[in-house]
Amino acid sequence: MRYLVMSTLRSKIRGGKRAGLGMIQTPKPQRKRSKTAVKEEETSSSPSTFHTFHDPADVSVLRSKLLGWYDKEKRELPWRTLAVTESDLNIRTYAVWVSEIMLQQTQVATVIDYYNKWMKRWPTVQDLAAATLEEVNQMWAGLGYYSRGKRLHEGAQKVVSELQGQMPRTVDSLLKQLPGVGRYTAAAIGSIALGQVTGAVDGNLIRVLCRLRAIGADCTSPAVTEALWSLANTLVDPERPGDFNQAMMELGARVCTPKGPLCSQCPVQAHCHSYHKVHVKQEENSRKLLGKPDRKPSALPDIEDCMNSGTCPLCPSQPWDDELGVLNFPRKPAKKPPRVERTLTCVVIRPGEEGEDEYLLTQRPSKGLLAGLWEFPSLLQEEKSSDMKQRRALCAQTSRILGTHLTDSLLQYVGEVVHVFSHIHQTYVVHSVCLKDGDAHAQTENAQWLTRSALQEAAVSTGVKKIMKLCDSVQSQKEQTSEDGKRPKKDKKPQTCKKARLSAANGSRQLSLSSFFKTVKQEC
Ligand code: ADE
Repeated sequence: MRYLVMSTLRSKIRGGKRAGLGMIQTPKPQRKRSKTAVKEEETSSSPSTFHTFHDPADVSVLRSKLLGWYDKEKRELPWRTLAVTESDLNIRTYAVWVSEIMLQQTQVATVIDYYNKWMKRWPTVQDLAAATLEEVNQMWAGLGYYSRGKRLHEGAQKVVSELQGQMPRTVDSLLKQLPGVGRYTAAAIGSIALGQVTGAVDGNLIRVLCRLRAIGADCTSPAVTEALWSLANTLVDPERPGDFNQAMMELGARVCTPKGPLCSQCPVQAHCHSYHKVHVKQEENSRKLLGKPDRKPSALPDIEDCMNSGTCPLCPSQPWDDELGVLNFPRKPAKKPPRVERTLTCVVIRPGEEGEDEYLLTQRPSKGLLAGLWEFPSLLQEEKSSDMKQRRALCAQTSRILGTHLTDSLLQYVGEVVHVFSHIHQTYVVHSVCLKDGDAHAQTENAQWLTRSALQEAAVSTGVKKIMKLCDSVQSQKEQTSEDGKRPKKDKKPQTCKKARLSAANGSRQLSLSSFFKTVKQEC
């Protein structure tokens, strides 16, 4: 943005020129209006163009600077390579769809491996449609937000069974036909895979655009949302829409970051209202410190401010904070704190046929949180119930899954594991029990015994893996202190409940984990 032309711009605004705010509806006052602000509002007959890109020359410079930077600086990512090299439109659209779903709520660095494995196993939408949900869940394990994988699978089956194997070819049809594809995802797939000229507003773009145009109202409000989509649609390069959108995302991920933006490296710094405002404020503060008079009468709004700031639905409702600098934008509403839950969990171990320990897992319901994933027998802890009662209830629940009766004295307390979901702060209160051969044959339908290595590959959540880690570390601590009752040794393999080792230790083949914990000392 050319700040040299701001005064001309200001007179134009006063003259009632309007651009790009057509989509903003019925502005609601966001803060108390000062007398000056009311005056400004009365004298200006149209919304301020401050939050828009109204000059086509400006837009064109911004596009070329951003794309020039992207061409030099972009990360080579597997889905970007596929979007360029894959000539089959169906495969290209499918490949970008998979990447966009994986990238929802997950960092690029985490997604890369999952994406490569996924595309190797299911290179086409037909391959994915032919997979089972269990295989999809297994592939997705550890990526979080498991309904995403399920929706991809459902979508692939729909494309094959209802759309003759043809991926939708427009943003509208992507939105309508594919489960789990919303406004952003449809626009991203449409622009990247199909060259459709549309902006795509994700979290990164919200931040970049709010900073560029000093949009400080709640960025989840309908007025801001519509304004951001309108901005994105104005800016998107008609020749390279997919690259432009990815360049904006890249800028948000690498330069215009949430907490430590690198403004000095920003290719579009000259267009950024927030950056400019920081400098104007710094200059104002220096003048004050030096006792110099203000450049303008304080009753007038700053030239770098919106003319209608008192009533503008895009302006901040809180005053500018010097310490935040460009981080004054965007403003988000306060997050609801996550629900706090405690879940009792029982790790049941038996000596397996091959001499390797096996663990009892049970499948979660096919709907809701972690749908269809495998977990250790668990029970939501009731606040008012006593420890004894809870243990009994966990024991009864585990017995039901096992199809055999366990006495609660066998349960050994192991420790606690915290896992935070987006909306739940979950603490797993972990117990374990190690069964004898004969006790462990029966089991119910939704349960299976898995070896350690099979468990690592199975469709289990990160919570289950954390619980395993806790069990390992507790066992190895016990082992280390029992070695000689002295200092822990480094590089010692974690102890297991293996038949051979236990029989060597006790002269018998079986031992419950509780007695194992008690008898480790005697082993050495
Ligand atoms: N986030 C969402 N889509 C992305 C993409 N195509 N590249 C990088 N980050 C993204």
